[in-house]
Amino acid sequence: MLDVQQLRKEYGTLVAVNDISFQLYPGDVFGFIGPNGAGKTTTIKMLATLLEPTRGTALLNGIDIVKYPEEVRPLLGYMPDFFGLYEGITVREYLEFFAAAYRIPKNQRAAIIDNVLELTDLTVKRDAYVETLSRGMQQRLCLAKSLVHDPLLLLLDEPASGLDPRARVEIKELIRELGAMGKIVLVSSHILPELADFCNKIGIIEKGELLVWGAVDEIVKQMQVTRHIAIHPLGEMEPLLKRLEHCPHVQSVEPRNGYLLAHFIGGLEEQAELLTQLVQEGFRIASFHEESLDLEDVFMQVTRGEVS
Ligand SMILES: Nc1ncnc2c1ncn2[C@@H]1O[C@H](COP(=O)(O)OP(=O)(O)OP(=O)(O)O)[C@@H](O)[C@H]1O
Ligand SMILES: [Mg+2]
Repeated sequence: MLDVQQLRKEYGTLVAVNDISFQLYPGDVFGFIGPNGAGKTTTIKMLATLLEPTRGTALLNGIDIVKYPEEVRPLLGYMPDFFGLYEGITVREYLEFFAAAYRIPKNQRAAIIDNVLELTDLTVKRDAYVETLSRGMQQRLCLAKSLVHDPLLLLLDEPASGLDPRARVEIKELIRELGAMGKIVLVSSHILPELADFCNKIGIIEKGELLVWGAVDEIVKQMQVTRHIAIHPLGEMEPLLKRLEHCPHVQSVEPRNGYLLAHFIGGLEEQAELLTQLVQEGFRIASFHEESLDLEDVFMQVTRGEVS
């Protein structure tokens, strides 16, 4: 497992990463989300043992990454946000180079390389020069490179940036597969919906602070401080809008395209009561349903500081 303990990085007076802690287990795909400058890359570089923390540490399978970086490195694969590829060598040679660097025995290299090429869908390009690959393929090659030594932990810093929609979908599928293979995958992004459908855990970081982290569904549940109820009246919206504004359980109401969106504080009892009252008062309600909060709403609520 990965046990991040009070990890901290200061640059002069700037606290880039402020004592963050979280735990991940094999099979976890952790979406590490935050706006630009939040501290994602800094955290990932510390976990990759490329940057020394000011304080704190992380244990990977019980090994302290600060005290024993050489022992941790074989267990992790890192895909940086910006990477350079060498020119004048082929895809296969590139992977062979890294396999050798990871001291994979010679007689095992070919099979492993075939495997990662297959996994990253680059088999057809194995004899192409790396500089002739498209950006998406280069991105996949970089991922292939970080997989040759079959690491337990994968640190992927914005792996989908700069990719076209198809390539994004492909890289997402690949990441999901890595989770299913029992790896711990940490993937950063500042685009939330991108992560929503394939991460089982997320953490939201802003200004170095890990604001929330945990299982996706639990976070969504936790964050449901106000429920969003969409009410679609027949006829005029105005009278219903006025009525809702005076309802004690309605924090605010916004007219939307053809319906009203009420931010509702209260449980299902109060929700049922409101509907009953509206109908009894003669409002003609075509539909009345709770919109589930998605990750985007959670992110907005958390980063707006609506939830402590
Ligand atoms: N080498 C450095 N020296 C000084 N400050 C730095 C250094 N590296 C990063 N920082 C600062 O640390 C903070 C966090 O940066 P970081 O690169 O971790 O953010 P990020 O979440 O990865 O952002 P992005 O989404 O833009 O990649 C920023 O304020 C940044 O300016
Ligand atoms: Mg970054």
